[in-house]
Amino acid sequence: MKIVLYGAGKRGRSIYNFLKSQGLERHIYGFCDKDAKEIDIIDNKKVWYLEELKEKDLVYCITIADRNKREEIRKFLSNKQCIEFGDLANIFHLDKIKFNRDFCAFYHLESMEDYFQSAETTLEVFWDPTSIFYKMFQRLDKTNIVELACGRGRHIPQIIDKAGNIMLVDILEKNIDICKKRFGKYSNIKYYKNSGNDLKELDSNSYTSLYSYDAMVHFELIDIYFYLLEIYRVLSPGGKALLHHSNYHADYKAGFGTAPQGRSFMSKKCFAYLSYRVGFNVLEQQIIDWGTDKKLDCVTLIEKPF
Ligand SMILES: C[S@@+](CC[C@H](N)C(=O)[O-])C[C@H]1O[C@@H](n2cnc3c(N)ncnc32)[C@H](O)[C@@H]1O
Repeated sequence: MKIVLYGAGKRGRSIYNFLKSQGLERHIYGFCDKDAKEIDIIDNKKVWYLEELKEKDLVYCITIADRNKREEIRKFLSNKQCIEFGDLANIFHLDKIKFNRDFCAFYHLESMEDYFQSAETTLEVFWDPTSIFYKMFQRLDKTNIVELACGRGRHIPQIIDKAGNIMLVDILEKNIDICKKRFGKYSNIKYYKNSGNDLKELDSNSYTSLYSYDAMVHFELIDIYFYLLEIYRVLSPGGKALLHHSNYHADYKAGFGTAPQGRSFMSKKCFAYLSYRVGFNVLEQQIIDWGTDKKLDCVTLIEKPF
């Protein structure tokens, strides 16, 4: 199969680099882009205009994240074979959930320096006293708190004076190392690079609360289920978790590779269902806008019963 990555922008290149990191670049025939002339070649792969691609057996994977543009391109390619990013896992006989999880981590490592920098100055959404996050955060017992998917630790300065012990967890070694340097002077912070869907190095019934902001929105629904099982295990009875997750349920095929703002397929009700099945009481849920995308996300507060 000869795969053409439709879109040679940031996301398209990152998908290519990810496939290369998995030793799969030989299956990529090239890129297709309206700016083919200017870009021309990426890592020895030609960037073509669509009209130039004459071979019949090409398969097009649209790498453009913008929902409207994707629809336009899909119509434009209606007489050709088109696949989703996640379908690449089928083609390569890989676990689709792991494929999406690994790409999400890869993208954070390779293409998100600008995000991590600007994130340091965009804190109001979480920490302004009128925000939903702030109000729900006040309901957590911070004696022994976990931050899941902590990134570079931008939330820690907001809570360090109010917290007892803090456990910072992230899938990326680089982010954990940056946090270790940044917060080296605090003896009450511990660090854990995890696998991406478990908390196996954390003791059971040991933490008073856990929170995760701007990260679980990208996680695969099945990984969220495994995380909820683990969060239930590590919280002490009465412990609460405050979780910012996706409410994007328009397209079950959506994943980090292609959905609006990299949201995964999830809904407020589905999250409540998973939490309840795991054993939690669902205390509060609030649907929120994210940027210009209305009702894209949800913030959920759950409690492990006594
Ligand atoms: C958009 S950043 C947000 C970081 C932080 N929560 C913040 O608000 O600044 C998402 C973070 O999730 C981490 N991440 C991605 N997939 C993960 C997974 N499956 N498990 C744990 N962390 C993950 C990334 O490494 C990154 O640090």
